[in-house]
Amino acid sequence: MSGAATAAVAKTSPGAAQTPATATIASYSVKLKVNGELAALSLDPRTTLLDALREHLHLTGTKKGCDHGQCGACTVIVNGERINSCLSFAVQHDCDEITTIEGLGAPGQLHPMQKAFVVHDGFQCGYCTPGQICSAVSVLKEIAAGVPSHVQTDLTAKPRATNDEMRERMSGNICRCGAYSNILAAMADVAGADVAGAGA
Ligand code: FES
Ligand code: FES
Repeated sequence: MSGAATAAVAKTSPGAAQTPATATIASYSVKLKVNGELAALSLDPRTTLLDALREHLHLTGTKKGCDHGQCGACTVIVNGERINSCLSFAVQHDCDEITTIEGLGAPGQLHPMQKAFVVHDGFQCGYCTPGQICSAVSVLKEIAAGVPSHVQTDLTAKPRATNDEMRERMSGNICRCGAYSNILAAMADVAGADVAGAGA
């Protein structure tokens, strides 16, 4: 502690609440292309992408569940790939293209995956749903692109949108309401797959 700081503490009367030392944090400029629109922000570098979207851009469709990378509620699509936005600092995404649930579709113009979730009752309370839908859209793209998964027995074979594949790839998205079977049905519908029965 510096001499001045020590003196300041010494002058504090006994019993008085002590104010913690505050440090000035520099703001960083970052440009995010969110749902096709460029947003210029000046942020504390510790701001997560999730908080930048929700608190600074007021895109509250993306949800905060655990804030620790364990529930998937905060899933968004960055440069075509899904990520947990709570695990990433916004300043890491300068000029990145970010798609949130608001950018996938809108009332009256739903994305096919959003429509399928409605048709197949793929949600109950809906809190996990934006993350589930962003993940589901990305999962089908990953399968189509041949990205391997943990349950794939032959890594040289092209993966298919089977029950096991989709369940494995969606395992990072938790649904406390347990809508998993209906989420799978929605994904199968969009993928044009028949997932009746395990491993179909
Ligand atoms: S809020 Fe990001 S994974 Fe749970
Ligand atoms: S629909 Fe309620 S947590 Fe998934």
